[in-house]
Amino acid sequence: MPTATRKILVTNALPYANGPIHIGHMLGYIQADIWVRFQKLRGHECHYVCADDAHGTPIMLKAQQLGIAPEQMIADMNAAHQADFADFHVAFDHYHSTHSDENRELAELIYTRLRDNGYIKTKTIEQLFDPQKEMFLPDRFVKGTCPKCGAEDQYGDNCDVCGATYSPTELKNPKSAVSGATPELRQSEHYFFDLPAFEDMLKAWTRSGSLQDEMANKLNEWFESGLQMWDISRDAPYFGFEIPDAPGKYFYVWLDAPIGYMGSFKHYCNTTGKADFDTYWEANSDAELYHFIGKDIIYFHSLFWPSMLKGANFRQPTNVWAHGFITVNGTKMSKSKGTFVMARTYLDHLDPDYLRYYFAAKLTNRIDDLDLNLTDFAQRVNADLVGKVVNIASRCAGFISKKFDGKLAAQLTDTALIDEFQAAGAGITEAYEKREFSKAMRDIMALADKANFYIAEKEPWQLIKDPAKADEVHQICSVGINLFRLLMVYLTPVVPALAERVQEFLNDEFSWNSYQRVLTNHAISPFKALMQRIEMDKVNAMIEDSKQQNEAANTPASTSNGELERDPISAEIAYDDFAKIDLRIARIANAEHVEGADKLLKLTLDLGGETRQVFAGIKSAYAPEKLIGQHTVMVANLAPRKMRFGLSEGMVLAAGPGGDELYILNPHDGAKPGMRVK
Ligand code: MSP
Ligand code: ZN
Repeated sequence: MPTATRKILVTNALPYANGPIHIGHMLGYIQADIWVRFQKLRGHECHYVCADDAHGTPIMLKAQQLGIAPEQMIADMNAAHQADFADFHVAFDHYHSTHSDENRELAELIYTRLRDNGYIKTKTIEQLFDPQKEMFLPDRFVKGTCPKCGAEDQYGDNCDVCGATYSPTELKNPKSAVSGATPELRQSEHYFFDLPAFEDMLKAWTRSGSLQDEMANKLNEWFESGLQMWDISRDAPYFGFEIPDAPGKYFYVWLDAPIGYMGSFKHYCNTTGKADFDTYWEANSDAELYHFIGKDIIYFHSLFWPSMLKGANFRQPTNVWAHGFITVNGTKMSKSKGTFVMARTYLDHLDPDYLRYYFAAKLTNRIDDLDLNLTDFAQRVNADLVGKVVNIASRCAGFISKKFDGKLAAQLTDTALIDEFQAAGAGITEAYEKREFSKAMRDIMALADKANFYIAEKEPWQLIKDPAKADEVHQICSVGINLFRLLMVYLTPVVPALAERVQEFLNDEFSWNSYQRVLTNHAISPFKALMQRIEMDKVNAMIEDSKQQNEAANTPASTSNGELERDPISAEIAYDDFAKIDLRIARIANAEHVEGADKLLKLTLDLGGETRQVFAGIKSAYAPEKLIGQHTVMVANLAPRKMRFGLSEGMVLAAGPGGDELYILNPHDGAKPGMRVK
């Protein structure tokens, strides 16, 4: 089958060491794991490495908050992450940390080569400084009043309310989110990587036709707006690696993070001898290198990373494959709804092969988001894996053990269906290779339907009543077991634990090519239940658990729920002041995402006569399709505001602190568009 043995190195983005793995993270790790298992099963030399991304300000501050050394915190987190991955059957060949000797050496080597090749420049910049904590503040750690719309309590880089982007020095009344102190502007010398120098190389790569379409489009947008010098240094105090020739200056976390792919692989090569580091990384390497990543980090992997490698005389990635984000029941994972499920919480209730199969059944090689609809999840897994695949074995195995001494027939007379299953192997192989997992799963389940139809039609349970038909039953059940076996060979990369149990049951060992074999005159073990159905109770218990974890984390010490303490009631107003506000019932006629806005949805509000366009900062809590058709309350006489994305003609009302905890108002049934609220 495989013509020549390929040499392949696969990575998935490194998770940050400041929090546990959740089921959203799992999508990428499982996608890459399925692809790697497939390549290994085919006999290719394929290595899958990963590591914790352990550096940066958030990790430093989180450790301070916990009152432990960052080294301690990242060691604990590393152990927890590895346990989560192992229990989801994500089989890394090595799992490392970016806070490691190998990574320090490689980061210094790459930096030094970039510097010596003329790609590092320095420039003095002005940045906000927290005089109390004595540290420079990343944009996300400054809060203040939006310079455009005046909304309070906005981050230093963009406004949740009006969607404006700005520099933290433009914020009015800025405060350090770390200490609450008023930051001061201070100067500091920073180190920059000359990204524009690599524009030609990046453009050629983009035009090569090998990239995902959506990724090539993004790259083209970035070329159009112009590539910028990239700030790669941060001042002490910082948890990371100090820059060799610059005391007190540290590599920005995103500089040494992707180098962590190399660091992890280096440790693996050095300690196991299973591969040669240089063969995979030297400039003219003919090994394949693939990075699986989420769509939010394309910029780092498609611009900076190939350029850093090029500038430091290493090979570039063969490809970078991005996937979309997980939503649960149609909306962003939400802590308060209990759909922000930690990997460990899932494992406490459900078999990891279920989720692996569900992801595979929905994954394509494009960058689309993937919805985990929990009802559909249970139905799909039960119907496909239990109802179609495992069912074939349970219908045939009993007769083989009880009537035929546990042995499959010595010869098969009718192999038409087996031939068809084997002929499908080439297409399924191709679908896996191209990461079209949903196509592979569809093809496999279509075969499973045929196997079930075959058995249902032959009715071995009727034939067995006639002793003269024993041979026929033996034939049918031996064919059935072989069909089951072929389906399970094809499913092995997706459901490894189930495949393990099946190999035990069949006394067989799978490789990818073993789909070309047929089992005859072969002893199988007595049938045991191979997979349980998903009980909705268990899914609900998992959600309930997640909700409780969130509530436990948020419960304040006092008996009140703390809303009024957090946000006291404003100064008294006269009725006339209130009466100036014209509140109306509005029907949400349309809701859609806004290209380029992280927080905003564009709403078309129907007032029963006229419509208004409103940009609302509620994207973090609502999927637009969920809103269409709902009634809500809007401020109808607010002066229109010109925003980057268009004119906003009013405001919808919502409660809650923000993020996924935002709740728009819904009138009782009967309220009609245009009615005044008073
Ligand atoms: N540390 C960086 C990556 C450095 S790679 C050199 C990082 N870490 S992360 O923990 O935030 O994310 C790890 C991976 O999980 C990324 O590929 C990210 O896109 C992915 N996901 C995080 N949340 C996700 C979903 N809800 N859905 C799908 N993937 C998600 O980014
Ligand atoms: Zn604003």
